[in-house]
Amino acid sequence: MGRVVLILFLGLQCIVAQKSLVPKRCTVCHEKSAPPLSLVYRRYLMLYSSKARIKQEMVDFLSAPSKEKSAMPEGMKNRFNPQNHPAFAPSIAKESVDKLIAKEDLIPRIVVPKD
Ligand code: HEC
Repeated sequence: MGRVVLILFLGLQCIVAQKSLVPKRCTVCHEKSAPPLSLVYRRYLMLYSSKARIKQEMVDFLSAPSKEKSAMPEGMKNRFNPQNHPAFAPSIAKESVDKLIAKEDLIPRIVVPKD
């Protein structure tokens, strides 16, 4: 019984994950040369806690990237130069950040049910 529940649960997670895929315009870098978005998200989560605030800070950064707006640690700023991050129109940034948050938020919700 527990196993059936687990399989159904994982299937559901896949459907939700599909819907909230982070756009190619982000993963083109963030799955290769750039720091993984899960790491970036955890950093924002640690600094800002609330999802609304994380969204606001990320969209603000992505709309006009600068070293001052960057939330990354000094070492990372010096290595990656956030001021060179591609800028996105606020509507595009919002849409992408929504998907990013939805995806990253799925991870802690995966719990293995006990038999
Ligand atoms: C050209 C490659 C590239 C693309 C495209 C790209 N990123 Fe990035 N991103 C980076 C690099 C490199 C960093 C690390 C430098 C930095 O701190 O900004 C970064 C950092 C970030 C940060 C942390 C910013 C900070 O410094 O606080 C966020 C948030 C982010 N990216 C989100 C996105 C989203 C969302 C998209 C798609 C809309 C995207 N990125 C597209 C390369 C990219």
